[in-house]
Amino acid sequence: MLMNRRQFLSMTGATALVAVCSPHALAAQPLAHRQSQPKAPADLNALQNLARQKDKLLGYPINMTTLPDTFLDWRNELARAGFNRFAFNNVGNPYDQSHIPFNCHPFERELIDRFGAIYGFSPGNIWGFLSNSGTDSNMHGLYMGRTILHSRTGVMPKIYFTQEAHYSIQILRDLLHLDWVVVGTKPDGGMDADDLERQLNANPNHPALVVATIGTTFKGAIDSVDEIQAKLKGRESYLHLDAALFGGYLPHTNFAAELLHEAADPVTGKKRQRYDSIAVSCHKFFGFPSPAGLFITPRTNFEAFLAPFSKIHDPEYVHQVPGTITCSRDAVKPAEFYFFSTESAFAQQTADAKAILDNAAYLLKEMTNHYPHLQAIRANGRSNIVYFRKPSEAVVNRYSLATMRLDSGGQLTPYAHVVVMPHAKKEILDQFLTDLGKV
Ligand SMILES: Cc1ncc(COP(=O)(O)O)c(C=O)c1O
Repeated sequence: MLMNRRQFLSMTGATALVAVCSPHALAAQPLAHRQSQPKAPADLNALQNLARQKDKLLGYPINMTTLPDTFLDWRNELARAGFNRFAFNNVGNPYDQSHIPFNCHPFERELIDRFGAIYGFSPGNIWGFLSNSGTDSNMHGLYMGRTILHSRTGVMPKIYFTQEAHYSIQILRDLLHLDWVVVGTKPDGGMDADDLERQLNANPNHPALVVATIGTTFKGAIDSVDEIQAKLKGRESYLHLDAALFGGYLPHTNFAAELLHEAADPVTGKKRQRYDSIAVSCHKFFGFPSPAGLFITPRTNFEAFLAPFSKIHDPEYVHQVPGTITCSRDAVKPAEFYFFSTESAFAQQTADAKAILDNAAYLLKEMTNHYPHLQAIRANGRSNIVYFRKPSEAVVNRYSLATMRLDSGGQLTPYAHVVVMPHAKKEILDQFLTDLGKV
């Protein structure tokens, strides 16, 4: 049974801050300490116009749904309790005793545990935190993988991922000074496990840090965790999942098994861990109003990381080994994202997951029937992405479509895609379909 938010606030003791930070207490302060309303640097009405256009954003994986009033109520409840009325900071490991109490670690822990349960992690064997973004969570996954593999073997791993992985993985590879072993893809854009095996055999003297993308950015392909694991058996390896978009909705569909952290081994029947860490963006499927990311790994992995990590830096200053790369961390986001981890939020996510997959199927059918020359493709039934030959510039601009040149019969051909997010309801898609015919 999940706790309700009010019980949680009282559990954390956050309500005790009311006396210090209530509106009455603020009003009683001398005027010199209060600031007048700042002048807006830009026309606020322009923002309202933007809000009217937001549902036309079809080209990127951002859920533009207006948040319900209950989210604003939750924000207000946090503020009334005194939360974030002065400088809160989530520095450190949310699962450890903190020397600086002005944080929301209890919220962060609880929400990581709740999402850990959604991804099938064993209760009690969960560690993680709320990061700044999917990229930030990927950075922690790759850094953790590199550190664990290097400490276990004394050899730097090589990193394996496909050309379809998000561009930020290439940046992180550079940042971490890792050699990239490019793994080939199958026709749908998913990782070719046989090529992975060939590449692993060609690099026998280095551990393998593998990044599987569960929902590639442009095509929506899925790298199969089970196929990858079969090739990694008996090798020194670490498997990180980049599930930036699909990780939000797949757990609420019939395809939830794709992301389950544990599953029975088909041969021995014993439970085994399918991957080492997972990254999911909060502003994509969930529609959280600012960038944030979930990073989740088994606690046992975190402990394997902690020993070498504590030798890399001197943690004396914060009285603990923080476990995270950055020192200061946002305390507002975990407290606010907590709103998305309740039973009613999960019910809404289940409804949204069904709607986006149904609407992606609808868009594919309509495009195939009415615009066969655009050659629309949906990589698989778990994807909310439809990609097709690039339409006119007018349509690309009106709907902010992402474009990309793809290899088509040995030639680079421009393509565009629609990511069917919860705000892209049938009426919006119908308008898009009509506009495709106009220009
Ligand atoms: C597969 C994948 N990974 C990572 C990212 C980057 O995520 P974020 O924007 O949260 O940093 C994206 C963004 O589109 C993505 O599609």
